[in-house]
Amino acid sequence: MKISIIGLGFVGLSFAAVLGSKNFSVLGIDNDPKKIIKIQNNEIPFYEPKLKKFLNSAQKKSLTVSDDLEFAVRSSDLIFITVSTPSLTNGEINLKFIKNVITKIGKTLKKTKNKPLIIVKSTVIPETSETVLLPLLEKFSQKSNGKGFGFLTNPEFLREGRAIDDTLNPHIIVLGGKKNNYMKKLSKFYSILYKKTTPIIITNYSNAELIKYANNSFLATKISFVNQLANICQKIPNSDVDIVATAIGIDPRIGNQFLNAGPGFGGSCLPKDLNALINFSDKIGYKNTFLNAVKTTNVQQAKKILYLLESILGNLKNKKITILGVSFKENSDDIRESVSIKLIRLLLQKNIKISAHDPKALLNIKKIFKDKITYSNTISESLHHSDCAIIMTPWNEYRDLKNSDFKGMRKKNLLDTRRLLSTKKLKLNYIAIGIGS
Ligand code: UGA
Repeated sequence: MKISIIGLGFVGLSFAAVLGSKNFSVLGIDNDPKKIIKIQNNEIPFYEPKLKKFLNSAQKKSLTVSDDLEFAVRSSDLIFITVSTPSLTNGEINLKFIKNVITKIGKTLKKTKNKPLIIVKSTVIPETSETVLLPLLEKFSQKSNGKGFGFLTNPEFLREGRAIDDTLNPHIIVLGGKKNNYMKKLSKFYSILYKKTTPIIITNYSNAELIKYANNSFLATKISFVNQLANICQKIPNSDVDIVATAIGIDPRIGNQFLNAGPGFGGSCLPKDLNALINFSDKIGYKNTFLNAVKTTNVQQAKKILYLLESILGNLKNKKITILGVSFKENSDDIRESVSIKLIRLLLQKNIKISAHDPKALLNIKKIFKDKITYSNTISESLHHSDCAIIMTPWNEYRDLKNSDFKGMRKKNLLDTRRLLSTKKLKLNYIAIGIGS
């Protein structure tokens, strides 16, 4: 069986690397020639643990990468589309990339006898597959779904920073579309690829599309909920949000994951998908008060850090603040929608000197703030003469911090938004989101 994966971002490249490492014949396609050369040289265009090892193994075995989409359509049995669907300013998703790929696939399908199965892994809002993508494919190929090609939707649930582990062991497979032989083929492919215990949900296009948005919006809801709980805890002396969250997480109806309070959720997915679902609800005539509250809570959480900082330092003018962690989460160099960026923007309005540290994401953040802030490769340099350090991203490096690491600070204040150091005996003014003092 020949497999093509179109769009080599986090999802596409991780999937290609895992399939290739398992000896599936895989062709990875991307329209960025620089990216193709990098990947051919076994360089990854972003930081993702374990990906390099899997990519290396895959390229030695059965993975090739190129920009030849037409060849992929002519020669593949399964074509996975994994291009991004970024946000427009109104929260709606931008279908430009996926429409472009679908159009090219359609035009090649018209000229070939091959009848591949096309699978949309990209996140698309309900009804997009049936009302936008499939009609485009049928128009350009002059063939019909189920006869000249197969067309299914198959949303992805992997997390950045854990992309390989999640691709090796997904918690679920969701397949949407017509229940025909193509559906049987894809279901069989996944049951061979994964453990028998991995649930495979087969449904129609819209349900599959909505499952993805419901999933991410529910995760966002859990985080906003626990962040509000953290803000309540903060006002109760000796109260600790982690103790409360751990206890409620034991209730199987609640579950223990995604209850880590912090500075708010960021990244290229949760904020985007929440916005897109709100926008979609509005469009179909349903004002989603609940999801709007989840979003507002998240926006306020970043401002809460500024408020805490002011309560520690008073007037912020000319103070030096150290930001520990700028990526939106640990084990990633991705800064998209990172709360650290929002915070730095708020701080810059107050005439504050900012020094940023991050184990992997400094190059990316430099592209945004240029010489408006300073950047340090070491934590001690970043803390030098600082009036307050703020832990934003839960990197392991920050969990290991001890008293001696803070000795160069002008004022020994630490604001820990993730409570990484709450159990350590530190000789400094320690304030943590979610811990009442
Ligand atoms: C998210 C989903 O978790 C994946 O299932 C989904 O496939 C992906 O979006 C996507 O749609 O592509 P991701 O954005 O990579 O994955 O990262 P998460 O682990 O969900 O973290 C998102 C944000 O929430 C981060 O800023 C993180 O620090 C924050 N978070 C997460 C918390 O503040 N508390 C938590 O308990 C969990």
